[in-house]
Amino acid sequence: MHIPSIIEKKRDGKLLSDDEIRSVISAYTADEMPDYQMAALAMAIYLQGMTADETASLTRAMLQSGEVLSYPDSAPRVVDKHSTGGVGDKVSLILAPLLACDDLWVPMISGRGLGITGGTLDKLEAIPGFRVGLSIEEMMSQLEQIGVAMIGQTGSICPADKKLYALRDVTATVSSQCLIVASIMSKKLAESLDALVLDVKFGKGAFMKTKAEAASLGIAMQEVGEAMGVETGVCFNPMDEPLGKTVGNSLEVVEAIDVLRGGGPADLREIVMKLAARLSQAGADQLAQWLDDGTALQKFREIVTHQGGDPADLERLGEINAAAVIRDFVSENSGQVGIVNADTIGRASVALGAGRSRVEDEVDPSVGFDELIKVGAEVNAGDVVARIHASSEKDADMAEAELKKAIQIR
Ligand code: URA
Repeated sequence: MHIPSIIEKKRDGKLLSDDEIRSVISAYTADEMPDYQMAALAMAIYLQGMTADETASLTRAMLQSGEVLSYPDSAPRVVDKHSTGGVGDKVSLILAPLLACDDLWVPMISGRGLGITGGTLDKLEAIPGFRVGLSIEEMMSQLEQIGVAMIGQTGSICPADKKLYALRDVTATVSSQCLIVASIMSKKLAESLDALVLDVKFGKGAFMKTKAEAASLGIAMQEVGEAMGVETGVCFNPMDEPLGKTVGNSLEVVEAIDVLRGGGPADLREIVMKLAARLSQAGADQLAQWLDDGTALQKFREIVTHQGGDPADLERLGEINAAAVIRDFVSENSGQVGIVNADTIGRASVALGAGRSRVEDEVDPSVGFDELIKVGAEVNAGDVVARIHASSEKDADMAEAELKKAIQIR
C-alpha cells in the first residue's frame, strides 16, 4: 500500500475502497504510518467528506483495531450514552453512576478533551489516582461488582480511535461528520451494547453549528448503530451556552458531585434526567430519588475507589486542584443576560490550559471557569457573573478579556 497515493485520492475527492481504509487504519494503529501522513489524510477527509459506505468501512476498521467486549449470559441489559461534545458537558460523570443504580451494566468508554469541548477522561483524572486505562479483565470484574466502569480507549480497546482522536484534537479536523461517526460508533460498538443513547449537540459550543447538521450526524450514527444490532436513540440538545455553571476539568467534577447530591444547576440535571429516562427501566421519580438520596453519589464513590482514587478526595477537590489565581469577573452593566457564548468560553478554557494544542500537552485540572451566569438571568452592575481559575495573572487577564466578549447583557 502506497499511503501518499491514498491521501492524494481523498484529497482529489475520490472514493476510498474498504481495503484501502482498512489498510490505513491497521498501519496507523501498528505505528507503521506516521502521524504526519494521518494528519494529511484526516484533513483530506475533513475537506472532501466520505460517503455512507466509506464511513461504515472506517467505523468497522476502527472497531476491529481492538477487542470487542463480551458478557456472561447472566449479565443484565448493557447500556451507555455518548455525547458529540460540548462545553461544560459533564453529563457522563452523573449519568453513568445513576444508570448503574438500576439493574444495568454501563461499560462507558469515553475520550479526552477534543477541540473546545472537554473530555470525560480529563475530568476523571482531576481526581488524584483515578485510572482510566483499565484492562478488559479489570473492567469486566468491576462490572460484576458495581455495574459500571469508566475508561478510555486503550491499546486493546479501540486503539485506532485513541491515536486518531488525539491527532484530530490538535489538527483542526474534529468537526467532520464521518470522522465523528467513526470515532463515536467504533467505541460504542466495541462495548457490545444492548442500547445506546446519543446526545447530539448543536450550536456555538458544538461541532455541529446548526440543528440540520446535528440531525444529519444523529441519523448517520443511528443507522450505523441499528445496522450493528444496537438499539440506538438520539437526543438533540442546544449548546449555545455552556452546560451548567462550570467549564474546566476539576471544576466540572465538583459541579457533577453537586448534582449527584441532589443539587447543581437545573439545566444539567434536566439533561441527565432526559438521557437516563431513555435507557433506564426505572421511572423518573425513582431516578430523581437516586440523585436526591445519595444513592448515585455512593455509586460514583464506588467507581472512584475501584479505579484507584480515594472518595474522601471528592469532598476537597477544590483545595486539591486550587488554581494559583482565582478572580471574580463582574458585570459592568445591569440588565438581562442575552448571550454566554460557549465557543468563546471553550476556547478561553483551552487557552487557560484545560485542553491541548499539541498531542503531548498535559492538561491543567485546576483551570477554567465557575459561577458562570446563565442566559436569561437578571444582573446588576457589579454582580459576579463568572469566576476565573488561572495559573497566572497574565492568563487571568486573557480570560477576562474573553469573558467580556462572551457574556452579553441586554
Ligand atoms: N466524541 C468522540 O468520541 N469522538 C468525536 O469525534 C466527537 C465526540
